Formats: sequence, structure tokens, C-alpha cells
Amino acid sequence: MTHNSIVKPDPEKVFLVGVNVRGNRPILSMNDSLIELALLAKTAGMELVGQATQQVNRIEPSTFIGSGKVEEIREQVEDIGAQVIIFDDELSPRHQRELESRFGEQIKLLDRSALILDIFAQHAHTREGALQVELAQYEYRLPRLTRQWTHLARQAGGGSARGGIGGVGLRGPGETQLEVDRREISRKITKLKQELERVRSHRTRHRQQRVRSGVPVVALVGYTNAGKSTLLNAITGADVYVADQLFATLDPTTRRLDLPSGREVLFTDTVGFIQKLPTTLIAAFRATLEEIAEADLLIHVVDVNHPNVLQHIETVEDTLAEIDVPAIPRILAWNKIDQWNGELPLLEDDNPYVAQVKVSAQKKTGINELLEAVEKGLASAAYTVKLFLPYDEGDLLSYLYNHGNVVKRQDKSEGVEITIQLPSVLYKRFKEYQVEG
Ligand code: GTP
Repeated sequence: MTHNSIVKPDPEKVFLVGVNVRGNRPILSMNDSLIELALLAKTAGMELVGQATQQVNRIEPSTFIGSGKVEEIREQVEDIGAQVIIFDDELSPRHQRELESRFGEQIKLLDRSALILDIFAQHAHTREGALQVELAQYEYRLPRLTRQWTHLARQAGGGSARGGIGGVGLRGPGETQLEVDRREISRKITKLKQELERVRSHRTRHRQQRVRSGVPVVALVGYTNAGKSTLLNAITGADVYVADQLFATLDPTTRRLDLPSGREVLFTDTVGFIQKLPTTLIAAFRATLEEIAEADLLIHVVDVNHPNVLQHIETVEDTLAEIDVPAIPRILAWNKIDQWNGELPLLEDDNPYVAQVKVSAQKKTGINELLEAVEKGLASAAYTVKLFLPYDEGDLLSYLYNHGNVVKRQDKSEGVEITIQLPSVLYKRFKEYQVEG
């Protein structure tokens, strides 16, 4: 009897290394951070076979953790038969080089950043997403190129944007293979940036249209796996990919919805955050992330059951600050409440949330309360302005009556003066009609 089943390759066996520098106060403890790293490795399709931790007074300039510890790990890894070692912190090019030579050719050495980049590469579906990840990967690799092409090919593994360096250029006179590789990657980076520019100018046009249409935008933000996509589905009936893995959604998805009052709103879901997100990735995703900065309201989605929920909230707020998101009103959605019993975790008194709502995106509970909070939040995001509209722009006046809250009206000889509360998008659009007072 023959079987036609597809044989899946065995998962790569991975060994994790966590380091704690005495005196440092990271957002997550070393152990919690290692648990998260294990989830990341699982998401990338690897099998955890062991881990080691090290306390140091300072990072060792050449071996990161000290040569004795490196040797200990090398022996352990050999005994267990692990193929991959992942450090939980970003390794400098020098550390990478030194550790690779100590662990030997047979071991693939990665750090958290490389792993996250790999997951992103597997999950990017749109053209822009794929280009952004590829750019971030090359920028990450450029200073780390050590063992020429063979090394790159080995590290790249397989999969979409993982390898992708393409043909290696011909060597010029006196050039080493390493120089050729560097030149090739720099050329790729320039090309990717140009291509991204083209894709983005298209998207910017879309965004401008959206701003002109005056429909407020509500962005869902949150730590990876908090349930943003599930919540977007629950709110809008959209069909967004949901998976119990990290970074399932990379590309922004936008859906339209009428709030209970009849007001039209756009909801958008975007990439999840995580502590120690690689800087090259934030830089490459900046344009996508900037959409968050332009939203009228944020819903910060959190997994209430996660033991590190408060640290997740802090990480998300820190990342929002890093990408220069202004003080847009925020609602905190305590998600996965179906699995929670007890008091909600306590936030600081000066927290930035205009409302806190308990929801279960999966069981679709608390959605009406959330939408009511959105309605109120949008009103709080409104600007009160005085506008003057000439009579020959009468159609704008009726538009404003439909989309804003007119507080006062005065008919004058040349036109109408109104005091109106407008959402920020409309405020931007009608700025030219604003008058003093
Ligand atoms: P990223 O793409 O990593 O940013 O994740 P996300 O925030 O979009 O999370 P997603 O919606 O993919 O959900 C992550 C996991 O949480 C999935 O397994 C969901 O089924 C689960 N989940 C989401 N909402 C709820 C909820 O209200 N209750 C429970 N029990 N599980 C939920």
C-alpha cells in the first residue's frame, strides 16, 4: 500500500539562552522573557529542547556571557542534539561572530531580533508588508555578514523572504567575497527602499481620500496575541485571520461600521507589539505604524489573563511613544474576559484611558459597551471650532450638520457662521474655513 501524504520536515531543535545583567530593570523578568521567546520559537515552527540562563555583572565584550558559560552551553547543546541556539537579547555583530566561531559550523545561532524578523517574513502577505520585512532583514544582516555567501544561505533557511539574496554579484578586482556580499546587500536595500516608496505613494493617496471623506478612524493596538483580529471580527463581522500564534496579522486591515447612533467609522487592525521589538523592524514598519498616529481613537486590546498583562500595557504604550503617536484618546479593552474571574488588574491613577471596557472578542460579549465607549471617545476627540461658510458652499453646511454637532448658528449677510464640534479628521479638512472667536 502506498501513502501519498506529504512528509513534513522535523522541527528544528532549539536551545534558548537568557541573560540577566545585575542592576538592569527590564520590563519582563528574564524567566518571563524566556517563556515569551519559547512561544516565538514555537511560532517559527521550532521545538524547544533546552535552555540556559546566566547572571552577569556586565555583558562580556567578546562572548556576551563569558567563555566558561559558552563552553558549558556548547556541551549541553551537543548532548541534546539541538541545531539552533537563540539568545533572548540582540547580539552585536561582534558577539555574533565570536559566538558562531565558538559554537561551531553545525549550530545556527540566532537572537530574538532575527527570530522575530523570520516570523514576520513568514506572515507578511501584502506587497508592502513583504517589502518592509525584507528591508528590515537586510538592514539587520548587513553589519553581521561574516562567512560570505555560504553563511547567508545557511542562515536564511528557506521560506519566502527568509533567504532571498538572489544571485551573488561577480567579484571585482581585489574584492573579497564578503565585500561582494556587502555590496550586493547594499544594492538590494536601495532597491527595496525605492520599491517601497512607490507602493507607499499609492497608499498615501488612499489615506488622503479617507481623510477627505471625514470618516473617523479607530485603530486597534495591542500586544501580540491579545486578540485584536478577533475583536475586529467581532465588531465588524470582518473575516480577519485569527490564530493562536504570535504576529498572525502584519498588514493593516480596515473595515467600515455604523455605530449604534448611525455614525460611520473605520476600524483598523495592525501589527502587534512585543517587548524588545527589533529597531530595524520598527524603522521598516514606520509607515504602516504611522497610520496609528493618524487615527482619531485607539482601542488598546489586552489579554486580561496574561500574567504579564501590566508589562504588556507598558510595552505597547512605550512603543506608541517611540513611533511618535500623539495623545489620541484611548480605550482599554480588557479582552478574553470569558476566562477571567476576579477583580481587574489595577492601573495607575494617571493612566491615559478615557474608558475601560471588559470584552470577550471570542464570545462577542461587551461589544455594545465597547461601541458606546467608542462613540463617547470620538466625541471627546472632537474639536470645538467656529467656521464661516459662504452661502455658495451650502452643500458643505448640510454635510457638517450630518457629521458634527452644531452648537451655535448665526446667519450673516455673506454666509453662515457656526460653532461646531468636529472629529479631528473633519477638523483637519475644514481648517481653512475656521474663524477666530
Ligand atoms: P497578533 O496577530 O499576534 O497581533 O494577534 P492578535 O492580537 O490579532 O490576536 P488574535 O485575534 O489572532 O487572537 C489570538 C488568540 O487569542 C486566538 O487564539 C484567539 O482565538 C484568542 N482569543 C481572542 N479573543 C479571545 C477571547 O475573547 N477569549 C478567549 N478565550 N480567547 C480569545
